[in-house]
Amino acid sequence: MTAATEMTDYYARRAQEYEAIYAKPERQADLAALRVRLPELLAGRHVYEVACGTGYWTQFVAQKAASVFATDYNEEVLAVARTKTAPPGRVTFARGDAFAPPPAPVACDGALAAFWWSHVRRGAQTAAFVSAFFARTAPGARFLFLDNRYVAGSSTPLARTDAEGNTYQLRRLNDGTTHEVLKNFPDEAELRAALAPHAARIEWEASDYYWLVWGERS
Ligand SMILES: C[S@@+](CC[C@H](N)C(=O)[O-])C[C@H]1O[C@@H](n2cnc3c(N)ncnc32)[C@H](O)[C@@H]1O
Repeated sequence: MTAATEMTDYYARRAQEYEAIYAKPERQADLAALRVRLPELLAGRHVYEVACGTGYWTQFVAQKAASVFATDYNEEVLAVARTKTAPPGRVTFARGDAFAPPPAPVACDGALAAFWWSHVRRGAQTAAFVSAFFARTAPGARFLFLDNRYVAGSSTPLARTDAEGNTYQLRRLNDGTTHEVLKNFPDEAELRAALAPHAARIEWEASDYYWLVWGERS
């Protein structure tokens, strides 16, 4: 595992309140569509999930996948994820670093990372994550990345931008602590460029609040 960072610490502290983000009223129609779309795109596949968090998307994907190997850096969120219901024997949770993902128990022909891309620095760190991600899947595997679009009035405002173009938000937790969290909002062209070295097919689907990029590994 790489050393814990401000961001890993933030998500460990946020574990119990994390899913409030899925209760925002204005996002419900988009989320309902995604709860159908993700399982559909990964149906019948052995899925490697990176940064699964509290297992919010894992629980829906597991309804149609052959299996899900769901990993996260933080044990605190995995403890919440393990309380969720899935068809017996279909989901395995494990600690895992997105930059050095552990081997899955089965060969994976599907891969998922939800709301993780935005937390990776632009440039070399994104390239390292994407390479590590695809290294855990077979050629032809279906991949899927889901993340936020920036929507003024709904998204947390951006507090600053660094020299490499990474953007940051200040987020407050129920325990009163405030955390500066890296949160990027890549556009379609940036995503396609990062995925092109690894992908035989890339599809982009945007809704009001989210973007979804999926395709097949080369
Ligand atoms: C925004 S949450 C997404 C959780 C989940 N995928 C979802 O969509 O609800 C980001 C997750 O990344 C995890 N995380 C942070 N650093 C990580 C790392 N280096 N490797 C794997 N997971 C990491 C955090 O613990 C947190 O659960």
